[in-house]
Amino acid sequence: MTKTIPVLASALVTALAASSALAEPDVAALEALGKQVFFDEISVPTRQSCATCHVPDNGFTAGVAAINMNGVAVTGANPHTVGNRKPPTAAYAASVPNLTGGFFGPDCSLAPFGLFCIGGVFWDGRATGNTIGQEVFEGDANLTAAYAGFLGPLADQALGPFANHVEQNVPDGSTELPGAEAVCNHVASAQYGELFELAWGTAPDCANDADLEFKRIAVAISAFEHSTEMNSFSSFRDFALANDADGMFPLDDFTDEENLGHDLFYNTKDNGGAGCANCHNNGVPFILFDENFQPFQNPDARGEEPDQIYSDNSFHNIGIPPNPAAANFDPNDPDEGLFEFTGVPGHEGDFRTPTLRNVDMRRGNGFPKAYMHNGYFKTLEQVVHFYNTASSKPTCTMSGASAAEAIANDCWPEAEVTPILPLAGLVGDLELSPDQEAALVAYLKTLTDTVIVKAPLPYVGN
Ligand code: HEC
Ligand code: HEC
Repeated sequence: MTKTIPVLASALVTALAASSALAEPDVAALEALGKQVFFDEISVPTRQSCATCHVPDNGFTAGVAAINMNGVAVTGANPHTVGNRKPPTAAYAASVPNLTGGFFGPDCSLAPFGLFCIGGVFWDGRATGNTIGQEVFEGDANLTAAYAGFLGPLADQALGPFANHVEQNVPDGSTELPGAEAVCNHVASAQYGELFELAWGTAPDCANDADLEFKRIAVAISAFEHSTEMNSFSSFRDFALANDADGMFPLDDFTDEENLGHDLFYNTKDNGGAGCANCHNNGVPFILFDENFQPFQNPDARGEEPDQIYSDNSFHNIGIPPNPAAANFDPNDPDEGLFEFTGVPGHEGDFRTPTLRNVDMRRGNGFPKAYMHNGYFKTLEQVVHFYNTASSKPTCTMSGASAAEAIANDCWPEAEVTPILPLAGLVGDLELSPDQEAALVAYLKTLTDTVIVKAPLPYVGN
């Protein structure tokens, strides 16, 4: 008698679990699925994955030298198609919140000049995080509890590249979400398809529910992009801060130049600094600081927070010159950034402040990178020189000058889209010496992760 009770009880539990169809969440399987898909060449023709444009060892941006030096945008799977923007890093994008206009409402349609408009991924924030919702959990409380944190801009974003003709170019299909059937079928029949079942409790039903299953694949990609592997916080700056005797700058392990660069980065121009942290901070819109750079909200104006992400997640037009070498460049049709998404006057030329983690991660010493939405700058030295001098040098007289040509001629070209808000004291007139410029670059170089994400091994089951 005493022996039969536990057997009955466990049979009962099993029966109950089956009848309410509760799936067992498995975050590791979800992340592993997302990683497999991220590196899988799901494209037509079969030659392009997310990782083709977001190359891990080049800081998750484009990894072909000639592209970074010239067209900046990566050609799509169909070799006749190409977009017009530089791929931003996909690492640390997990820190970007859903798009909101803050005080000015749920979206940015009323946010003046893009101020208080925060979040959303893509350079213009158009992957808002409000597309994929709770429907992916079908009321399952366990899955909701375990996976809800992966909804948001990154899940929404992951729906886009597959069917995009300048990206992976899979067939649109006949479902609501372009590419849903093609991607669902691909994952269902892939060697790693079992990971879907482990993560979601059932195999994908591509015939009847491709849209829903596609969204679950997007949530998996987001889970990978949220993983500690992609957000390793493993840079020299992170280790030096963690190892520091008092946990405060100046850091014992930094050179004097790196410590100086840090101080310049965090101090305002009024205090002899460069004011970079007005915008490259830990998610605080710069308008929330008073004139002495005393934060109203940010507990970390000194940059001592371990997981600093170096972005206010907000939008600014900092007057970047046009890049005539960029693919699809049209002088009569400038890239208007946030305005292209919201259509709100005042948002012209606003782009979301990118994280600065891994700005100097590159495939090898001297391997070229491109900076800003249009890749105008090729080196961090050029970027810092621009911040220092953009408004204090004459306008270039030759047309279409590259950053190198402009610097050689001691001038800067007109901005691609003229900023409406004044940038005095923030961009263009910082009055830094050459040594101070070099110190800022030295500091930026401490932000390179030591953990390099590797492509996954082929899935062999578990
Ligand atoms: C052909 C190159 C290409 C491919 C393939 C590609 N991307 Fe991108 N990615 C880009 C470009 C360019 C942007 C910026 C586009 C924009 O802002 O309009 C971008 C933006 C992003 C962002 C936004 C980052 C941020 O901070 O705003 C994420 C995340 C991302 N891609 C992930 C992915 C994933 C996941 C895949 C595969 C499903 C993928 N990308 C495939 C080029 C590519
Ligand atoms: C007013 C806000 C603001 C300030 C101040 C600011 N930045 Fe930026 N930063 C941005 C924005 C916005 C972009 C993207 C602009 C674009 O692409 O049009 C950017 C882009 C960059 C990039 C390119 C990153 C990439 O992945 O392409 C670097 C590097 C950078 N900033 C470094 C700095 C440094 C160093 C300072 C201080 C000298 C600084 N920023 C000050 C807002 C700011």
